[in-house]
Amino acid sequence: MSPTAVWAGPVHGFEDRRLPRIAGPSGLVIFGITGDLSRRKLLPAVYDLANRGLLPPGFALIGFAHRQSPGDDFAQQVRDAVRANARTPFREHVWQQLAGCIRFVEGDFEDENSYRRLAEEVAAASTRGTGGNFAFYLSVPPRYFPKVVLQLGQHGLATPAPGSWRRAVVEKPFGRDLSSARELNRILQEVFPPGEVFRIDHYLGKETVQNILALRFANTLFEPLWNRTYVDHVQITMAEDIGIGNRAGYYDGIGAARDVVQNHLLQLLALTAMEEPASFDAEALAAEKAKVLASVRLPEDFGRDTVRGQYTAGRQGDAPAVGYLDEDGIAPGSRTDTYAALKLGIDNRRWAGVPFYLRAGKRLARRVTEIAVVFQRAPYLPFDAGATTELGQNALVVRVQPDEGATLRFGSKVPGSSFEVRDVTMDFAYGASFTESSPEAYERLILDVLLGDANLFPRHEEVELSWQILDPVEAYWENHGRPARYPAGSWGPAEADELLARDGRSWRRP
Ligand code: BG6
Repeated sequence: MSPTAVWAGPVHGFEDRRLPRIAGPSGLVIFGITGDLSRRKLLPAVYDLANRGLLPPGFALIGFAHRQSPGDDFAQQVRDAVRANARTPFREHVWQQLAGCIRFVEGDFEDENSYRRLAEEVAAASTRGTGGNFAFYLSVPPRYFPKVVLQLGQHGLATPAPGSWRRAVVEKPFGRDLSSARELNRILQEVFPPGEVFRIDHYLGKETVQNILALRFANTLFEPLWNRTYVDHVQITMAEDIGIGNRAGYYDGIGAARDVVQNHLLQLLALTAMEEPASFDAEALAAEKAKVLASVRLPEDFGRDTVRGQYTAGRQGDAPAVGYLDEDGIAPGSRTDTYAALKLGIDNRRWAGVPFYLRAGKRLARRVTEIAVVFQRAPYLPFDAGATTELGQNALVVRVQPDEGATLRFGSKVPGSSFEVRDVTMDFAYGASFTESSPEAYERLILDVLLGDANLFPRHEEVELSWQILDPVEAYWENHGRPARYPAGSWGPAEADELLARDGRSWRRP
């Protein structure tokens, strides 16, 4: 592909989702461009968009960061990040073109002068083809969110000239509880124009997560069974085999529940349990998700139906792994949860009485995110007692990652003259069924921000409802002892197994 084709101009009429959607004139400012998320996800995603020809001609990327040491070369850091983490092949001419659009503002998130320099860069880029349209991506520690937003306001950066737009893109966690989320939202609403705040939950950008809606609402097969009459329970698992890496500064004091349950897992729950939306536009989707989140019933006994854990030393595959308290940068005696499990209910006609078990943890046996809808046993089995001892419950498992796809588990006769029924699976794997590769979640979401498409971004109401679910759990944990222990490389604390065992169930071992 020639360089000109890579930077193809905007196409109109992208309402047809089969056409490539190309951003109109615009620029992106990334706060914290040297941080972990930028290096691993954001910069590679911007490069991948450029490589696919989805960025406009005149695009501008402005990075704002502290210089860690005097000799730091920002441009080289961006190049290294792209080379190491982009999904599309590294092509020198695409990189050169992108590099030509990048500017850096070295600065402090609290320093007035830094924002003045940023305003100058934004104004200069506006004359080079962004049309004055800018998105400000806050990839910084959450404690800086309000400060950065207020500074953007004070320097006129959040106010668009007539005919252009200014957007805020806010990484999670959005606040650390309900009241801080409300306060952050108030500031954002005061500073940015209505409808221009994009709250990131990158799980919503994942292909398999969007596929939950296709699976449920594009087929006849599943929806008739998707209710309390047939579903026994639902398990939502987000297991990671990694520890906290070099993110102690962010993670310690936040913990697994605030890091991923409040957002990713509750969004998965909402998509799994919600009613069919009137359409797939942002309003209609958000309304249905909010209804489910508002119907979530908390456990009556937090001591029994919630578990938090913290990993101790163990083994991850062949390698020894240190315990959480021995990771670099963790406060001595920290009580931060690296594992969280909850049993929730949903108080509505469809789900009354069906438990939703959620679990998330670091340093678990393997990396897997999945939603398992486990069906009730057949009401009667017309076979000899011995024929069905190995028959489990039917289940539909949506594998979010890795190995994206879905598996249906049901019983089948074992070949042979005796009559024995055993579980078998029917499998759909993305890799085997589609030749198209799916964009990385951040690629999709950054493009959506530039296009102003808010479908895949949680609304403030959803964020508030999620904190309303989590706050009482966190408050209970705060006042009740320490997290349970589990060795790195295991499937989490024994207490989490007991939580399900009390209900006569067990966690899946994916
Ligand atoms: C982030 C969390 O939101 O999701 C991290 O802050 C976690 O702690 C990450 O590791 C996992 O993302 P993914 O896309 O690899 O499942």
